Amino acid sequence: MTYECIITAVHGEGERKTGLITLNRPKQLNALNDQLMDELGAALLAFDADDGIGCIVLTGSERAFAAGADIPTMAPHNFMSAFKSGLISKNWETILQVRKPVIAAVAGFALGGGCELAMMCDFIIAADSAKFGQPEIKLGIIPGAGGTQRLPRAVGKSKAMDVLLTARMMDATEAERGGLVSRVVAADKLLEEALAAAEQINGFSAPSVALIKELVNRSFEGPLLDAVAVERRYFHALFGTDDQREGMDAFLAKRKPNFKHQ
Ligand code: CAA
Repeated sequence: MTYECIITAVHGEGERKTGLITLNRPKQLNALNDQLMDELGAALLAFDADDGIGCIVLTGSERAFAAGADIPTMAPHNFMSAFKSGLISKNWETILQVRKPVIAAVAGFALGGGCELAMMCDFIIAADSAKFGQPEIKLGIIPGAGGTQRLPRAVGKSKAMDVLLTARMMDATEAERGGLVSRVVAADKLLEEALAAAEQINGFSAPSVALIKELVNRSFEGPLLDAVAVERRYFHALFGTDDQREGMDAFLAKRKPNFKHQ
């Protein structure tokens, strides 16, 4: 498939590499329209299905990760057309089907749907230039891709209410303090840092990586004790893999493990 609104590339030297997806509608600050979301979904699923890829990094430009859903496309909708067409539905949630880690590398604006897309990734590394917000209230709407649910889970009720109700932006420092982003780095080091994190994950055993992703997501999506019970099952199951034996043997022998990834 050829893409017009995103650019894909593969990075890394190891047995498993990193799929890099760059949002690319610069004139619109990477506003997320249907074509971009369809292309993003296709690229994510293609990397997810590729055994040579361990992790995916999703990024935008220096100026904007994404400034939200595409406003000119949404503007003409009424209730029935939004409802019937499933506005902000099908192609927005493809990312949730991906089993490999997806790291958001965010510089500049991550607003509205852009902030929601970053929050659907597994963790966010922010440039010191990043600005996060859910300004939908200024458009007379509300977030439509999980912002009212994922933002309070990330930063707590008080900060989420403040950001959602006032439409103000959080800078990278505030976003890190609130727990929305995992680390803040200099803007010119953003991609390097995100690719290095991906490379590190690529070196670990693939079943451990996939199960940690699934279980951490369960901690947000379901009741706690159910998730802990599933965690225990998977924990036991990993003792049936060669990678567990290799990982523990290597530790005891004080050498580097050589995972098969299975
Ligand atoms: N959709 C489409 N185009 C957008 C856009 C969006 N969400 N955000 C910015 N653009 C376009 C602007 O219209 C402008 O295009 P022109 O040059 O053709 O006029 C271009 O990007 C540059 O934007 P600005 O001139 O406004 O740049 P700025 O630096 O002055 O401001 C900004 C940047 C603060 C991000 C401002 O553009 C802005 O507030 N954008 C809208 C942000 C927003 O409301 N996002 C939420 C959308 S709704 C949503 O996402 C719903 C949901 O939950 C899924």
